[in-house]
Amino acid sequence: MALAGKRILIIIGDGIAAYKVLDLIRRLREQGASLHVVMTTAAKQFVTELSVASLAGGKVFGDLFSLMDETEIGHIQLSRDADLLVVAPATADLLAKMAHGLANDLASTLLLATDKKILVAPAMNLRMWLHPATLRNIASLREDGVLFVGPEEGDMACGETGPGRMSEPTAILAAIDRALDSETSIPLPATMRKHQETRPLAGRRVIVTSGPTHEPIDPVRYIANRSSGKQGHALAAAAAEAGAEVVLVSGPVALPDPAGVETKHVETAAEMLAAVEAALPADIFIGVAAVADWRVAGTAADKIKKQKNTPPVLALVENPDILAAIAQHGMSRPRLVVGFAAETEDVLAHAQAKLARKRCDVIVANDVSLQSGVMGSGVMGKDENQVTIITPAGMEALPRLHKYEVATRLVARFTDMLEAMAEDHTNE
Ligand code: C5P
Repeated sequence: MALAGKRILIIIGDGIAAYKVLDLIRRLREQGASLHVVMTTAAKQFVTELSVASLAGGKVFGDLFSLMDETEIGHIQLSRDADLLVVAPATADLLAKMAHGLANDLASTLLLATDKKILVAPAMNLRMWLHPATLRNIASLREDGVLFVGPEEGDMACGETGPGRMSEPTAILAAIDRALDSETSIPLPATMRKHQETRPLAGRRVIVTSGPTHEPIDPVRYIANRSSGKQGHALAAAAAEAGAEVVLVSGPVALPDPAGVETKHVETAAEMLAAVEAALPADIFIGVAAVADWRVAGTAADKIKKQKNTPPVLALVENPDILAAIAQHGMSRPRLVVGFAAETEDVLAHAQAKLARKRCDVIVANDVSLQSGVMGSGVMGKDENQVTIITPAGMEALPRLHKYEVATRLVARFTDMLEAMAEDHTNE
């Protein structure tokens, strides 16, 4: 009776996956939760109000302006009284309404009126899931703190195969448990795959570098690479969500520290290397940071004065290559060392050369040329990324996805690689 006394408001959206919610309701009741259920008008085409009411053990709400409901309880009270709101199936339409704050039926009104955590279990056709409009809505909802479970990849009712299937009731139940448990104000990013549900990296330690480094010229000026840190932070969060103990070594970024991750803040490449070495040993090292290749020789102690017609000449010295250093760290080399390669031309050839030169196990190559669209108007830091995973054994291109989804898929791949290494080791 893990959920005894917990009050959960279930909102059933209008999708074929609504039938799975009957099982979820049954399981929630078995665990002692007390339920209120709201169905959208179209949800009632997929499952009957009577089945839902029988299993939920109470009334099912549907109309925004039902006089009886209003006098009995008041629609705002429905979401105020709950400990958690669960939207399943969360359709593309319902997510769009939530992301934009629309409130034109009972479900959307309750979602806008609540001050409680919301967990959504999306279900839709894969084209709809991967549509830029849906990706934008999901990003906004995540920023608002909405929690996600799924969707899963697999066969769908529409005949296509891919991401978009609603998670199974057991997975939603586990996510409900976690949502009710967690004290975090900024929730971890969504679990996009079953992989995440089973916490396959439990007991593993992962170090991630993220963001740029700033190399001072004087106390007020610096040189740096462009980097938002979004992909690195998303990877750290995804690894934590998969159960790993994560140390994130971050250069200066405008992002919050991911929940559940030990974050070390550094400025320069030298500080970043020292922080990574201090965090060793680890099972996986993922170098996502856009480390400045050079630093200024002899940083000025005072602000360099502007002198007419005589601009200062900066002498640069090479920075340590953190990725190469960790990949060649002798006894304390992490078993899996992953580098990133942001390239603007010949992306794959350059990435392969980097794999050999730095002696890492994996290079994740991303095309940041203007044609790729990742840089938009010439500035990196967008929310989507298209990456190719390159190992000595071959390469795999992932579709263009939100950086959170890229992170989740990469963590799943890295987990598989780590497991395969352990098996090889045992077979030797
Ligand atoms: O050689 P390049 O900078 O393109 O390689 C990118 C990869 O190497 C990234 O994984 C980045 O984090 C890492 N790197 C590093 N230290 C440097 C330069 C790059 O760890 N000084």
